[in-house]
Amino acid sequence: MSCKWNSIEPACLKGSLASVLQSIEFDQKWFKIALFFVGFNPVFWNVVARLEYRTHFLTRLAGGAKRGCYLLAFTIFSLGVARDLCFEWALRSQPVSAVLDQELVRNAGRVCIGVGQVLVVTSMYQLGVTGTYLGDYFGILMDHIVTAFPFNVSNNPMYQGSTLSFLGYSLLQGKPAGLVITLFVHTMYSVALKFEEPFTAKIYAQRDAQRAKKE
Ligand SMILES: *[C@@H]1O[C@H](CO)[C@@H](O)[C@H](O)[C@H]1NC(C)=O
Repeated sequence: MSCKWNSIEPACLKGSLASVLQSIEFDQKWFKIALFFVGFNPVFWNVVARLEYRTHFLTRLAGGAKRGCYLLAFTIFSLGVARDLCFEWALRSQPVSAVLDQELVRNAGRVCIGVGQVLVVTSMYQLGVTGTYLGDYFGILMDHIVTAFPFNVSNNPMYQGSTLSFLGYSLLQGKPAGLVITLFVHTMYSVALKFEEPFTAKIYAQRDAQRAKKE
């Protein structure tokens, strides 16, 4: 039986999936290093931020909460750049899948990148550096919960935007290896949120209780 690329016949779907998976070089060095950074980065910033919350070691090291947070922000940002570069290098030598090598797929990729970047940039604009990079662990809290765009369309625009960007580049280049990395990015962000969301909620609840007491 002959299968068109967009056929939804079960046999064709199975064939497509198999051909997509076959076109991933799991043993490639940069692919593995990219996966390492995707896994390592959120673990790193959660461990360091919790440590800061308990011991204030970064505040002391940098000589102030704000400066400590900037130091952490710079470190996280650099780790992010390293991860993105490895992703880029990993994709470069990974094969293109015939199933993904379609203008429709590339256009979907462009849309994902566009939406993703808008989410990331506007979220950073709304939160500022300390709001974006775990300022709450340093005792630097926002006055009010931000509800303006992009927070009216997404609970975690930074993570969703970043995931969408990975997805977009993978689709644009037609490389299934990128989709595997994207899936891992999504998984790691979901795990990170399981730790970050309750913590943030707790810190702000404490602050609100203190405010209420004062009044
Ligand atoms: C979110 O806010 C933007 C800008 O204020 C607005 O244009 C958009 O309609 C809002 N979306 C939702 C779902 O409320």
